[in-house]
Amino acid sequence: MGSALRTETPGVSSWETHRVPVVSVLSLKGGVGKTTVTLGLAGAAAAQKLRCVVVDLDPQANATTVLAPDGVQFTANDILTGDRPVAIGDALAVSGWGEPVRVLAGEPALERRNHPPDGHPGRHHVRAALAGLRDADLVLIDCPPSLAELTRNALAASDTALIVTEATAFALAGAQQALDAVDAVRSAHNLRLRPAGIVVNRFRVGAAEHRFRLDELIAAYRDLVIDPVLPERSAVTRAQGAGVPIQRWPSPGAREVSRVFAGYLTLLTTARTGAGPFSKGASR
Ligand SMILES: Nc1ncnc2c1ncn2[C@@H]1O[C@H](COP(=O)(O)OP(=O)(O)O)[C@@H](O)[C@H]1O
Ligand SMILES: [Mg+2]
Repeated sequence: MGSALRTETPGVSSWETHRVPVVSVLSLKGGVGKTTVTLGLAGAAAAQKLRCVVVDLDPQANATTVLAPDGVQFTANDILTGDRPVAIGDALAVSGWGEPVRVLAGEPALERRNHPPDGHPGRHHVRAALAGLRDADLVLIDCPPSLAELTRNALAASDTALIVTEATAFALAGAQQALDAVDAVRSAHNLRLRPAGIVVNRFRVGAAEHRFRLDELIAAYRDLVIDPVLPERSAVTRAQGAGVPIQRWPSPGAREVSRVFAGYLTLLTTARTGAGPFSKGASR
């Protein structure tokens, strides 16, 4: 299993062609839905019996809290310690969602790694750690709410970057800054990296402002804005509060959101590396 998800990139050395696909989920700020998208994709992967690893690089560790991994011995902070690297296999813990979803836990100590005093000495630590991962089909990195060092470390380790935004006044500027960060890391550290697209989250169909801002995003980034948008549904918060995947939450809203995540997973796992945007982009 899993071979269908392998990425092949011309010009990448052979040991790297068998890497597990890595997706960073990022945004300029907090509260827009990075963790929600990460968890939704992890649940979608598990529902398809794919082996998924969630790397929680957010010092707030919300994904870790919801996934409730069992017997955590090491965290992402240990992976970012260059002098005493921990093997990825030893650092992963099985989540409360079951065997297919494993977690590299986050913890508050990650915060000081976001602004290292001596520049960015460890930008390749996550990449180096994940290069040792074999028994997984997909890695999802939940980034902290900034584009600082931790997010750059995630991007240096990723094949694709999924940008999350809400349809608000600052969406356009925020998406542009996230795309600029992806560009900067690509040219400096990781030529494989591509933007996977922009998820517009917490969308309310009846809200004129949301429609206006979505149209603005489509006008600016047409091919990158992922269709469909992710609707606002109370089931999202409820399932997270209960620590279960949205795919197992029994409500119409949860089923609707789960269908959207299944579509996102398909887009992510079928997009050819290097092919650029994968959005259908047209009707909403
Ligand atoms: N589509 C949605 N519908 C309803 N609530 C949502 C949705 N997306 C996110 N939320 C809620 O908004 C809050 C912030 O989302 P979160 O994913 O934690 O953002 P981030 O990781 O970017 O900080 C959480 O309480 C989450 O449950
Ligand atoms: Mg979060």
